[in-house]
This record gives sequence, C-alpha cells and structure tokens, in this order.
Amino acid sequence: MRKFTVQTSARFGNAIGVFDSGVGGLSVLRAIRAALPHEDLVYVADSGHAPYGDQTEAHITQRTLTVGRWLAEQGVKAITIACNTATVVAARSLREQTHVPVVAIEPAIKPAVALTRTGVVGVLATRQTVQSESVARLCAQYGEGKRMVLQACPGWVELVEQADLQSARTDALLRQFIEPLLAQGADTLVLGCTHYPFLISAIQSITGPEVTLIDPAEAVARELVRRLTDTLTPNASQPGSTRFFTTGDVTQVQQAVSHLWGHGAVVDALTSD
Ligand code: DGL
Repeated sequence: MRKFTVQTSARFGNAIGVFDSGVGGLSVLRAIRAALPHEDLVYVADSGHAPYGDQTEAHITQRTLTVGRWLAEQGVKAITIACNTATVVAARSLREQTHVPVVAIEPAIKPAVALTRTGVVGVLATRQTVQSESVARLCAQYGEGKRMVLQACPGWVELVEQADLQSARTDALLRQFIEPLLAQGADTLVLGCTHYPFLISAIQSITGPEVTLIDPAEAVARELVRRLTDTLTPNASQPGSTRFFTTGDVTQVQQAVSHLWGHGAVVDALTSD
C-alpha cells in the first residue's frame, strides 16, 4: 500500500473531508461551504490519477480507497465523495472499509424524472458513470415510462481542469454532446459529473432557458448536515477554514482552484511515497 505524505504536518480532526478526481468537486464544496459556514473543510483533488471517467473500475476503486483512507487517518468526521464516477464504482467499498460516515453524490435521476414534461431526460456524465450498474439501477427504479438518454462527454472534464469555461473550443465540445439530446426531445439534463456545473452558463446558452439543468450539489450538502447534526461546530463565531490538497501538479491545480474557488485559496501537495 502506498503511503501519502502531507508536506505540511497538519491533521484535520473535526473537519469534513471532500474529494474528487480533480477540481470538479469544488462545485460540491461550494454548496457545503454555503450550508456549513463554520465547519473546517479539507478538499483533495486527486489530479495525479485523473480523469477517473476513462479508467478501469479497479483503478477508480483503488484511488477512492486510498484518498478516503488518507482523509480518515487525518481524523475527519465525514468523507464526501464529490465525484459521481467514484460513487458509482467505489462508494460501497469505501463505506465497507472506513468507520467514518460517507456521503456520496450520484446522478440526480429521480428529480429529473419528476421535472420532465417531454418525457425525455438526458444524463450527461463520464463514460464509467453512464456504463455503471448504479446508473442502470437508478434509471430502472425511477425512469419508468420515460426515455432516459445516457451521454458520455469525453473532454468536458479537461475543459474545467484548464478553467476553459467559455471559448469557441468549449462551445464546440459542448454542442457535440448536447445537440443530439435536444434533437431527441430532452427538456431536462442531469449534470452527472461534478465538473459540469462549472460549464452551466455555456451549456444553458446552447440549450436555451427552456431546458432544465439539474445539479445535486445542494442535496449533498443537505444530506451532510442531516448526517452530522450531532457533531456540527456549535455557535462558532469564526468562519471555517478551507484547505486544498492535490496529488497532481500543484501549479496547474492552483491555477484552476484560484479561478474556480477564489484567489485566496492555497493548494498544497499530497505526495505518495
Ligand atoms: N468529477 C468526476 C465525476 O463527478 C469525474 C471526473 C473524471 O472523469 O475524473 O464524475
């Protein structure tokens, strides 16, 4: 088993751990920060091993367990999987192997089915997510009588990692996967990858305002609040801290985090030896 070394020697007892393959999980972190302003948050971008969406299930499971165990070893009081791909492949394994509560995002198929008027729902996600048994199960459970169109979107994660949220290249890559869904009558699109909410304004400019985009980040934050009711920081007067770590190239991840989260954010290296 490879071991992680944090370049700073901090431990994060009482914080909430959040991780993704990269910076996409910041879309979930921002919902958690809004819901829990006084909690300390620790975010891991596993960028040295990303993107997850095109990797094998064995790789995704191994990374989920490694990052999850590291967070548990730091003493966090909960782990949030802010990555749909890691959830559908490996959330069960992580829950079996840690004593820390695990809250995991998954594609918001149930609310999308409730909202569609045309009866056609598009699910935008990574290749591993659209092929997963979990998504097939959610579609079977909630999608009766509806048409569920599952669409893998290769290249979208990289756009967000490079903070290229509005450009001719971005528009072309988004259109490639959105226009076929619109042509099939989809009026509701599930953002089934945590990177995609950062592309919402570019996506909505292609779909127009009539199409509903669904991001379950706030539902994840609510679930975290529900699970942690007894251990939330009481009556804190100070805002909680937010720490960022990456297993990837610190300079590159720092640029993306500064762009997507804010310029005060500092990213530290999390190296494995
Ligand atoms: N952000 C991740 C998700 O929600 C996946 C990105 C990747 O392919 O690494 O699925």
